[in-house]
Amino acid sequence: MPKSRTSSPRKPSMAARADRYELYEIAVHDPEAEIDFIRTTYRKIRGRQAQTFREDFAGSASAACEWVRRGPRCRAIGVDLEPAVLEWGRQNRLSRLKPGQRSRVRLIEGNVLTVKAPTVDAIAAMNFSYWVFKDRATLGRYFRAAHRSLRRDGIFFLDAFGGYEASREMEETTKLRRFTYVWDQAEYRPVTGEILCHIHFRFPDGSRLRKAFTYDWRLWTLPEIREVLLEAGFRRVTVYWEGDDGKGEGNGEFTPDAKGESDAGWVSYIVAEK
Ligand SMILES: C[S@@+](CC[C@H](N)C(=O)[O-])C[C@H]1O[C@@H](n2cnc3c(N)ncnc32)[C@H](O)[C@@H]1O
Repeated sequence: MPKSRTSSPRKPSMAARADRYELYEIAVHDPEAEIDFIRTTYRKIRGRQAQTFREDFAGSASAACEWVRRGPRCRAIGVDLEPAVLEWGRQNRLSRLKPGQRSRVRLIEGNVLTVKAPTVDAIAAMNFSYWVFKDRATLGRYFRAAHRSLRRDGIFFLDAFGGYEASREMEETTKLRRFTYVWDQAEYRPVTGEILCHIHFRFPDGSRLRKAFTYDWRLWTLPEIREVLLEAGFRRVTVYWEGDDGKGEGNGEFTPDAKGESDAGWVSYIVAEK
């Protein structure tokens, strides 16, 4: 039936109205927990509080923003290649800081392989972002660049995922309050170790944001990452394994572990001391 000319225009779908960076942070990023881990671990290892921090692959720089909230002497740098996501971070994350806090965050549009910035106490490369480096030579180049960018007693923090389901082509669906988050392991190539993943979002009105984010990565293993970090000059590399909540899920507590466990899926932190 033709619509009358006075009928109101159709409301855009939830997918059309959504902000994919906002959804990403709700679904997969917890900058508070990340910064808690970095600050606590740094203090335990070095016996002092870290003050300067660099967030590599910063995206919206949420972790850098969280860092400067932790005290008036805390300074942070966020590095990302993409001007659009840095601008989103300026408009939506730095804008939430108090002026004094904001003045202690610096965003750099640049490549983590070549960026020039003051040396810092701690550098983080989280959410597996460094897996864009698919060969050992480039991974080693990045780790050497991070090593050079740290102060004498600096520490480099990374994360990794794995487990016997990590190389399975499959989708994992997580229902959240306002939308459903889908982690899609679309392709795994055993010969090269490459993995192609997407994030999709689905909404209660039936609309979808397919391939809101795509990751073309190498699925690195912990021993490979440890070896390349040691070759890059880090003195000690420790894997922090997540504890169990008793119901088969992680409990958010990470402790040093020399072995780990053969779980279906795990996420761990890697702590590399200069
Ligand atoms: C998965 S997002 C990470 C966002 C956020 N920091 C987090 O932990 O969830 C990866 C980001 O890395 C950036 N990126 C990719 N290669 C890079 C490089 N060589 N140097 C700097 N940034 C890079 C992309 O532009 C993208 O914003």
